[in-house]
Order: sequence, then structure tokens, then C-alpha cells
Amino acid sequence: MDNILVTGGAGYIGSHIVEQLLKMKKRVLIVDNLSTGYKQLINKKAIFFFCDIKNFKNLNKIFKQNKISSVIHLAACLSVGESQKKPKKYYSNNVLGTKNIVECCKRNNIRNLIFSSTCAVYKDKMKIVKENSKVNPKSVYGKTKLLSENLIKTNLKNRKINYAILRYFNVAGASKSGKIGQISKGDQLFKNLSIASLKIRPKINIYGKNYLTKDGTCIRDYIHVSDIAKIHLLVLKKIQKEKKSITLNCGYGTGISVLDAVKEFQKQTRKKIKIMIKERRKGDMEEITACVSKIKKFIKWKPKKNSLSYIVKSCINWEKKIKQY
Ligand SMILES: NC(=O)c1ccc[n+]([C@@H]2O[C@H](COP(=O)([O-])OP(=O)(O)OC[C@H]3O[C@@H](n4cnc5c(N)ncnc54)[C@H](O)[C@@H]3O)[C@@H](O)[C@H]2O)c1
Repeated sequence: MDNILVTGGAGYIGSHIVEQLLKMKKRVLIVDNLSTGYKQLINKKAIFFFCDIKNFKNLNKIFKQNKISSVIHLAACLSVGESQKKPKKYYSNNVLGTKNIVECCKRNNIRNLIFSSTCAVYKDKMKIVKENSKVNPKSVYGKTKLLSENLIKTNLKNRKINYAILRYFNVAGASKSGKIGQISKGDQLFKNLSIASLKIRPKINIYGKNYLTKDGTCIRDYIHVSDIAKIHLLVLKKIQKEKKSITLNCGYGTGISVLDAVKEFQKQTRKKIKIMIKERRKGDMEEITACVSKIKKFIKWKPKKNSLSYIVKSCINWEKKIKQY
């Protein structure tokens, strides 16, 4: 049977992809250095390699010694705020790391590569973006992802390796299995709101209230992690079958403001969340929502969890669960 390698498989989204691949009876290998991943998120049915993708020698050895047919490459650093302060770390981890993955794919007869990109590659203030909309990343994080996309495109163009570049919008929620979800605290709004909403007197920082949006706060397109994970399985099947390479937006096409999210958390927890307005953060985009007609057509995709109330419920349930750990 073919082996599928998932880099970053001990992380939030990676662990959901691994769970779904295993459910489909695939053989899964994970490469992760646990920098932001967790042992608890490593599925016991997968084969785990503690390895840093920056270490080409070790990485190539794993590729060489295992019959890998497809790679799903998620391993990366992903905090917009941190990327502005530590650009070198981001260029090295995200760009050099991807360069190593591409080189291993070329040397080891890999047939398919899926890359986790982001909506942060697009130019700001375009509101709704298509895959061919202008790119111009505002943050260092977005820049490293765009460089990685280009590395993949230029290196794999004339090879027999099909690739899919998936530009995720904002991912939230947790698996129905109750076993996996987001543990690491970064600068994600839904995670911060989930943590806050379990407190007796919840409060939340909002970075900027004077954006040119409907309520002055930033607007994003949130997609449930189970839907994002499923996309990988469907896209992998499709590019393999049709021997195609493609770039796809992964969102629901619904813009949700920071205040919309706060209100939904308040409604579900029946608690008032105290809002503290802070300065805008460098690198944050004003408003971005996905045009999803391309992905819907390509994989005949029908999202299953596309309601704000479901996503918020899923976040709160997971947060309650990990609080008991
Ligand atoms: N979470 C989101 O909303 C979102 C949105 C857009 C894109 N993405 C992309 O999705 C991917 C996964 O994000 P996530 O939210 O699951 O984050 P995460 O931090 O939970 O997962 C990243 C995983 O990669 C591992 N990793 C990082 N650098 C590594 C290295 N050099 N070698 C080996 N392993 C390494 C970490 O230990 C971690 O397990 C990232 O590429 C990210 O850029 C995420």
C-alpha cells in the first residue's frame, strides 16, 4: 500500500488530516519536530519521525527508506506577529524547509504534493479574492508562504509530480472525535475567545477598531478544521487521478468580523466578554474572504460545518475538554 507522509502531522490541522487519512485506511507517516506540535496529537496508528525539515540529510533518509507516494506538507511557523519580529526564523523554517521537501520529492519519485499555503499571500483590502487575484503579502509570514508556493511551481513544473497549493483562510474548531483540537496558543482569535469564554470574567484584546469594515474590526473567512482536512483527501485523489496541478482557495466565502465572533461566543456562553481595544498589529490584513467557486467545481465540494454557531460550539467544547487535562 502507498505511504502518505504528513509534515507537521503533530500539529493542529495536520493531526486532523492524519485522523481522516487513517479512517480511510491509508498508511500514514508523520514528520514533525514538535516545535509547536504535541505528542498528544500524534495518532498512534501513524508512524512518527521526530525530524526537523530543515535537516535535509535526515529528511531525505526518511523519504529514501519508506515507500512514499504522496506528501502533505504543513510543517511551518505561522504567527503573523512573530514573523514580523523574527523574519529570519520564518524564512529559514518555511522557505528552506519547503525547499528541502521539494528536493526530497524530486529525488524519491514522489507522485503528489499538497502544500499548506494561506490567504495571507493576497494583497490586502481586496475583500473577496480569487486564486488569480493579486498577491502581495503584507506580513513576513505571508511572504515566506508565497516564496514557498513559487519554489514548488518552478521546481515541479516539468516533472511528473502533481501538486496542489491550498490557500487556507482561517481555520477553527475541533474534531468530533474529541481527541484532537488546537492546543497551542498563538494569535488566533477563536482560540483566544475559547480560552477567555471559560473564565468567570472573560476579556479579549481587539487589535484595531477603525478599519474600513462594517464594524471597524478585521474581517476573515473561518473554515472548520474537519472541512479543511477533508479537502486534502479529496484534492489528493483528484490530482492523482487527473494528473493535474492546481492552486485553490479553502474557505467558505463568508466574511466574519472580530465583533461577529465575540457576539457568537457571548451568545453561546451567556457571558459578557469585556473588550479591550489595542493598537492595530503590523502585518494584519483588513478584510479577506475567499471566492470558493474553483474548489467547489474541482472536487465537487460541499462544506459540512459551515455555520458560525457550529464552529464556535466546537471550539468551546474542545477548550472545556483540554482544561480537564
Ligand atoms: N491555522 C490556520 O488558521 C492556518 C491558516 C492558513 C494556513 N495555515 C497553515 O497550515 C499549516 C499547519 O498549521 P497549524 O495551524 O496546524 O499549526 P501548528 O503549529 O499546530 O502545526 C505546525 C506543525 O509543524 C511542525 N513544525 C514546524 N516547523 C517544523 C520543522 N522545521 N520541522 C518539522 N516540523 C515542524 C510543528 O511542530 C507543528 O506540529 C501551516 O503550514 C500553516 O501555515 C494554517
